[in-house]
Amino acid sequence: MQMAQAFVRAGYHTVAATPHMIPGTTWMPSIDLIKTQVAGLNQTIKDEGLKLKIVSGMEIALDPQIPDLLDEGRLLALGNSSCLLIEPSFQQLPPGWEQVIFSILTKGYSILLAHPERCAQLATNLSLIDQLIESGVYLQINWGSFLGQYGRAVARTAQLLARNGCIHCLASDSHHHRGHNPARMQAATAKLRKMLSQENLQRITIENPLRVLHGETPQPMIKSGVMTEKRKKPRWRFW
Ligand SMILES: [Fe+2]
Repeated sequence: MQMAQAFVRAGYHTVAATPHMIPGTTWMPSIDLIKTQVAGLNQTIKDEGLKLKIVSGMEIALDPQIPDLLDEGRLLALGNSSCLLIEPSFQQLPPGWEQVIFSILTKGYSILLAHPERCAQLATNLSLIDQLIESGVYLQINWGSFLGQYGRAVARTAQLLARNGCIHCLASDSHHHRGHNPARMQAATAKLRKMLSQENLQRITIENPLRVLHGETPQPMIKSGVMTEKRKKPRWRFW
């Protein structure tokens, strides 16, 4: 409930609860368990008089077992969508990851890739990010990355992605109420305002997250809306 209150204070009206799903480990919550917990939480939130809705999902570790788990009906998409929140590991993508992505997409699901800026392999080989976007994968970046929460290298990657118009959604990636407060969100927004147009900021913070939850296609950032200051010109571009 403390997290719910923090989200309300930060101006949220909807939050996707995405417990980790790590194939092959004990972190494999059932869909029934997640839905029951989310329903109970929504009831408590309502009883407390808070204006906040929790929708269910999973943060699924990118793993070769995903296609089989999908066939077995053990993976949960975000909200009322068929969009899976897929988390790359912090170091290297698993062998055969291209086939896993292809398989998920051909089964009719879309993919929102959680915090690619925190994956060392993607951050040091940005053509892979380009490849992912071209294959239809959507990118979700953490607010905290812009504030240096995960270190300077991650912050640099997040800024490059923002300046090059490669972000579809921003997310809090909250794990605890103390790490999520309005001041932190406002600080991240202030940084992003220097890089992005208001239209793009609105798109990746409000419009696209809602599109995802409603099963609609998130829209890419508007290229002309990306403000590139001369001295901060990116070294590479995706298009
Ligand atoms: Fe994550």
